[in-house]
Amino acid sequence: MRPRAAFTENHESVPIASGAQAVDESQELIEVGAADCFIDLGALHIPILTGPARSGDRLPTMSATSAIEVDGLVRRFGEFTAVDDVSFTVEPGELFGFLGPNGAGKTTTISILCTLLRPSGGAARVAGFDVATEPGSVRSSIGLVFQELTLDDYLTGMQNLRFHAVLYGYPSAEVADRAAPLLEMVGLSDRADQQVRFYSGGMKRRLEIARGLLHSPRVLFLDEPTIGLDPQTRVHIWEYVDTLRQREKTTMFLTTHYMDEAERCDRIAIIDQGKIVAIDTPDALKDSVGDDTVTLMTSDDAAALEQIKTALGITGELTEDGLRLRVPEGESFVPRLFEHLTVEVQNVSMHRPSLDDVFIKYTGRDIRDAEAGGMDRLKSNPMVRGFRKAGN
Ligand SMILES: Nc1ncnc2c1ncn2[C@@H]1O[C@H](COP(=O)(O)OP(=O)(O)OP(=O)(O)O)[C@@H](O)[C@H]1O
Ligand SMILES: [Mg+2]
Repeated sequence: MRPRAAFTENHESVPIASGAQAVDESQELIEVGAADCFIDLGALHIPILTGPARSGDRLPTMSATSAIEVDGLVRRFGEFTAVDDVSFTVEPGELFGFLGPNGAGKTTTISILCTLLRPSGGAARVAGFDVATEPGSVRSSIGLVFQELTLDDYLTGMQNLRFHAVLYGYPSAEVADRAAPLLEMVGLSDRADQQVRFYSGGMKRRLEIARGLLHSPRVLFLDEPTIGLDPQTRVHIWEYVDTLRQREKTTMFLTTHYMDEAERCDRIAIIDQGKIVAIDTPDALKDSVGDDTVTLMTSDDAAALEQIKTALGITGELTEDGLRLRVPEGESFVPRLFEHLTVEVQNVSMHRPSLDDVFIKYTGRDIRDAEAGGMDRLKSNPMVRGFRKAGN
């Protein structure tokens, strides 16, 4: 298929000839090869990641090695370095979280891994294929739920799914069987035959997620997939994602500003100003923040402070909320504490470091600030905004 239009990174379409180059926002060149199909359907141009199409591309097979390998990846926009010497690996079947404040470089990294953007330096392999030299093979192996909406408004929900399936060579006889539970999951079964332009912003988002899962990709990239969705829909989607992971061993690469979603990850990398600042399991990251906090309210906090210091060698601090102690393992510490206190304990609470504490430690920002920024951005999306203006 000859490409007729290409996206700038801002998702505005520009006409191009096959094999030509598209100009991005920063006036750098993104090479768009013959295999990059940007389908022009009415109002929207949909980026389609098809492949393999280049002569050097191999047929997709999951390599026995890592699902994603990133080595010294760099992406510059003019003088500005958005991704700065980033290295990590993601193992097959892993749910890998990529967290960071707004503008940290998450989407830029995903765009490179999905072959939408060329790296300025370093190397990356997805499903065993090199993103720079085997983009078609990479594309055959991946699914992408992009941060921005990319549906065709003038197709129905089901047509959007069918269109996607056809381009991925999914057997048409199986599309309906596969699409039905996905539409059910995202609560759109009864709207499947309605044009997407009549969907709300949240419904469009849900359809995008169903579309990303349709062709059973080996590696699924989810760039803030549930932003703006109500909690109930988020729960449904995560139930389905869990099932999918168990059934199809899909590797998932997730960016999110929701802490409960980050908690689900097998491992998390935190990126800040283009650099990876921490990478580990959620528990290990929490441990790295520091001790648990135990807060006690007693009949005489000053006396309790002395007793704890004498018996356990721990120096607490008196605060407005009571006597605060920092200990490595709060759960096993509390029973010991009771053995040594003669004053009456009125209240005891324990706080383990959360991923929010982790985020603050490594980035100096609250994860919720970043979430708020993402919501603003979603609301400013012309597709969501336009829909609201239309009053539908
Ligand atoms: N095409 C571009 N031209 C110039 N600068 C860009 C371009 N694309 C991204 N950037 C810049 O690169 C940095 C990283 O952007 P990126 O979209 O990767 O951030 P992010 O971590 O996904 O943030 P968010 O949480 O807001 O989605 C930002 O400073 C952004 O302005
Ligand atoms: Mg982003």
